Order: sequence, then C-alpha cells, then structure tokens
Amino acid sequence: MYLTKDEEKILNGEMGEVQERLFRLLVRLGDIYGADKMIPIGSVQVAGVSYKSIGDPGTEFLEDISSKETKVKVLTYLNPAGMDLEDWDKLGFPKDFAKNQLRIINAFKRMGIVITTTCTPYLAGNLPRFREHIAWSESSAVSFSNSVIGARTNREGGPSALAAAICGLTPNYGLHLWEKRQPNVRIKVNTNLVYNSDFGALGYLVGKTVKNKIPFFTGIKNADTDQLKSLGAAMAASGAVALYHIEGLTPEADLTNDKGLETIEIGKKEMNNIYDKLNSGEEPDVVIFGCPHASLREISSICRKVEGKKLKKPIWICTSRLMKEASDRMGYTNIIEKAGGHIVADTCMVVSPIENMGFNVTGVNSGKAANYLPGFCKQKVVFANIDKLVEATL
Ligand code: F3S
Repeated sequence: MYLTKDEEKILNGEMGEVQERLFRLLVRLGDIYGADKMIPIGSVQVAGVSYKSIGDPGTEFLEDISSKETKVKVLTYLNPAGMDLEDWDKLGFPKDFAKNQLRIINAFKRMGIVITTTCTPYLAGNLPRFREHIAWSESSAVSFSNSVIGARTNREGGPSALAAAICGLTPNYGLHLWEKRQPNVRIKVNTNLVYNSDFGALGYLVGKTVKNKIPFFTGIKNADTDQLKSLGAAMAASGAVALYHIEGLTPEADLTNDKGLETIEIGKKEMNNIYDKLNSGEEPDVVIFGCPHASLREISSICRKVEGKKLKKPIWICTSRLMKEASDRMGYTNIIEKAGGHIVADTCMVVSPIENMGFNVTGVNSGKAANYLPGFCKQKVVFANIDKLVEATL
C-alpha cells in the first residue's frame, strides 16, 4: 500500500508508540483487503463500550492507551455503554458494574472522544455528508450512514475504529470504493409494511437470507428514517449487510446497476413466519423500545400511547442523552414516568446486564434486539408492533 511521508513517520514510531501501534493495525487491515492507500476520514464512531462486552482486558487496554496522552484527530462518538451514565443507580444497575463502566467512559473521555454513547450518532450531532468517508463501527449506524445518507464506511471493529480516530485515516477498500457499492441481489417486497416492527422483521429475514450481500429493494413504497434504521439494524444483525439500496428512497439506488440480479420475493406469508419465529415468550416482564436508539418522534409516539395510563409492566425507551433532554423539555419524560415507564439514556437492552436485573421475558419491536436478546441476555422474546407491546403492559 502506498504511504505518504507523514504516514511513514507514524509507522516508524516518530509520532509516539500508541499511534505507531494503532497505525500498524490499519496498515495490516489495508494489506489484507488490498487497499491502495490511506484516506482521511470525517468522523469515527467507536463500539466496544459496555463493560459487559469488553470486560477487564478491554478496560485495561483503554486505560493504558489513554494514560499516554493519546488524543483523537477527528470527531469521534461512542456507542452505547452498559448503563444509563446518570440514572444507573435509580434504575437498579449493579454497583460493581457501574464502577467498571465509569472507568471505561473516563478512558474514552481522556482521549477526546465525545461521550455520546449512542448507536444513532446521526441523530445526535454527528451527521456525515453524502459520499463522505468515515470509519464507524456500530453495525446499525454503519448501515444507516452507508444506505440512507450515502456516506462511505466499512463495518469497523472497535480497535480499528479507535485506530482510525487516533490517526484520522482509514485504509481505502471495500465500501469506500464506488464499484464495491453495487447491489448483488434484488428483494421484491410484495406486502405493505406499516409498523417499524414490520421493517425489523423484513430486515431479519433478508439478513438471514443474503448474509453479507448488498440488497436492492423494490416494492417498498415509503419509509421514514425510523423505519429505515430498523430495517438496516436487523439486516446487519441477522446477516452482515452493511449497505442496502431501496428504489426511489435511498440516495444511491438510482445510480447503481440493478439489472440481471437474482430476485427474492417476500410477501405476507414470509413476514408472518418471521413474526412467529422471533417470538419465544408470551408475557413480557418488561417492554423495551429504542433499538436502534429511539428518535424524538418515536419517544413522542410512545408518550401519546401511555399518557394518563398506569402500566402494570415497565416500559423502557432506550435513547441518546440528547434525545432524552429534548424529551424532558417537551414534557414527554414526565408523562412516561407518571405512567410507570422510563427513558433510559446511554445504553440499550442488549449491552446492559438486564439478565441480572430480574427480567426473563422482554418485549421488543426491533428485529435486531429480537435477534440478540436470547443469546446475549438470556431472554425470551415477545416480538410485536408498538400497539401490541403497549397493550401488553397495561
Ligand atoms: Fe443500538 Fe443496542 Fe440496538 S447498540 S442498535 S440499541 S442492540
């Protein structure tokens, strides 16, 4: 791979040991995937933040590099942590867990990483532009930025995203290249999608079927950004889809070549089968919305549904701190809390230790959460649309 003189200096250790170590990782990745050069990036999003995911080895690694005055070179956001960073005690997160989680957060903060702790950075002040090169690692955010915004990122791992943030560079391969962004399977949707959970179910099925291909959807007449984030998150979770195109909706769809592709048709029957498959529980102990993190529109719609009611089972809405502040200001948080629900910021149902908080059956409307909850959190799942889930808590 071609390296500039400045990049050679990093590799020779002239910019310090940490940069050298992390840049070496980027060079190795570039060599493996046949990158021709390094490219500058506009922003980074780092995953691997929850103590539940990275444990002691990850915590010690971060403390070590942050103690060496290492600073990020570009705007860098963080994926959700394992708990609400402000209300963890009130919400019942274990104290030992909290102590370790805060060590991780402090290490990131020392490196200049913005403690946004969200998987929807694009709703919280980190909005890339069309065709901007970025290095993001949360799979749902990667899918959204590539597909809905038309920015360009590979699905980075936690360490390679951190390396990109510290060096301000990423190797030029994969989805950074236009020719690698072409669709290779067509999905013809023959049914109406109404709820966000319909998009989650469709995404789950497509991800399972196409694995890491790039789907080109036809037949989806309309979708708002919440529905697109549900679709992409589920495809990235059940498969490894990092980019999709939707005819008439996403920005690169008209620019790609979709002629002669293998076509998979999905109708009502296939969708019903997925709802059945994702349901392993009957009565939820808790209903958790916000995978990916809820937008203000989603919070306000749940707020309207629970206003004036008394919930028999708790509802959590996972979101970013920024959305929570807007929700507080609009009075939504107050209405939701009066009903017996909580807005939980900075974390989510998958990366927080909900299995140690007395929950065994979780209700979700997210295909991604339904995919991960049984394995990561030992939960049985009730997968349904927002109306049915709210009804189950009353
Ligand atoms: Fe976000 Fe957690 Fe879902 S990180 S995409 S809310 S699993």
